[in-house]
Amino acid sequence: MSETTNDTTGTVSADQAIREQALTEKVIASFEATPDARLKEIMQTLTKHLHAFLRETRLTEAEWESGITFLTSAGHITDEKRQEFILLSDVLGASMQTITVNNPVAGKATEATVFGPFFVEDAPEIPNGGDLSFGASGQPCWVEGIVTDTYGTPIPGARIEVWEADDEGFYDVQYDDGRTTARAHLFTDEHGAYRFWGLKPTPYPIPHDGPVGTMLAATNRSPVRASHLHFMVTAENQRTLVTHIFVEGDPQIEIGDSVFGVKDSLIKQFEDQPAGSPTPDGRDLGDRPWSRVRFDVVLAPAESGR
Ligand code: BEZ
Ligand code: FE
Repeated sequence: MSETTNDTTGTVSADQAIREQALTEKVIASFEATPDARLKEIMQTLTKHLHAFLRETRLTEAEWESGITFLTSAGHITDEKRQEFILLSDVLGASMQTITVNNPVAGKATEATVFGPFFVEDAPEIPNGGDLSFGASGQPCWVEGIVTDTYGTPIPGARIEVWEADDEGFYDVQYDDGRTTARAHLFTDEHGAYRFWGLKPTPYPIPHDGPVGTMLAATNRSPVRASHLHFMVTAENQRTLVTHIFVEGDPQIEIGDSVFGVKDSLIKQFEDQPAGSPTPDGRDLGDRPWSRVRFDVVLAPAESGR
């Protein structure tokens, strides 16, 4: 019997390859009458790639069953506070790839990265120069910058949402006491500038006590995210920017961010300041060292996204 290689690791007989291909084509054809053209495209392309994966890996029935068990556990651990499927998408780079596809580089516009599960609507407003830590533990960090469009024109009144983990590696929503800390929103001033006190970001693991954590352990991958500070910036006629800044010199950048969120342009220098050194706004931090970072944001025009 003649054998053929089907773009895969193994070889199958020509007859077998024809049978497998015929099944793939039959399933693709089953979506032919889908009224919504986009849904049809998605289902047919999904089928094509899913079947290619099954055929290329020569997936065994036991492996298929493990996959089903894995997805079932992801469903069981998911509730209003825990979304294991988004976590799975994140660690597979699917979230980041979707962001990359949908946020084409627009001139000098600041790059986007993953949203993550810890954003909260209605975080408190702070004035420019205010402190968003609200008592969360960590080293104080002065963050400042200007928001402009791609022509360099400052944007007054841009809304900036900021959120971050404390130095124990937890967001406020991961505590059971209902606290609101290390998050806030503020608006750029009449010059498009903003400034606030936050915390110098530190590395922390994504939730890894569920099936995604088991998969990371089985594949020798770290659940740790590179230290980062989340931003979401919105302004009229501009594309909403969801991004982070990362800490230059953080070893986790080299080791690898567990959700593939790092982009070179988002790595910023956080300048460490010794205790007692004068602060930008004259705040007395006593014997606490602090740091400062500048992050200028360039928003893309609204029509440049999809
Ligand atoms: C985060 O940065 O908050 C995050 C992103 C993806 C998965 C888990 C956490
Ligand atoms: Fe985060």
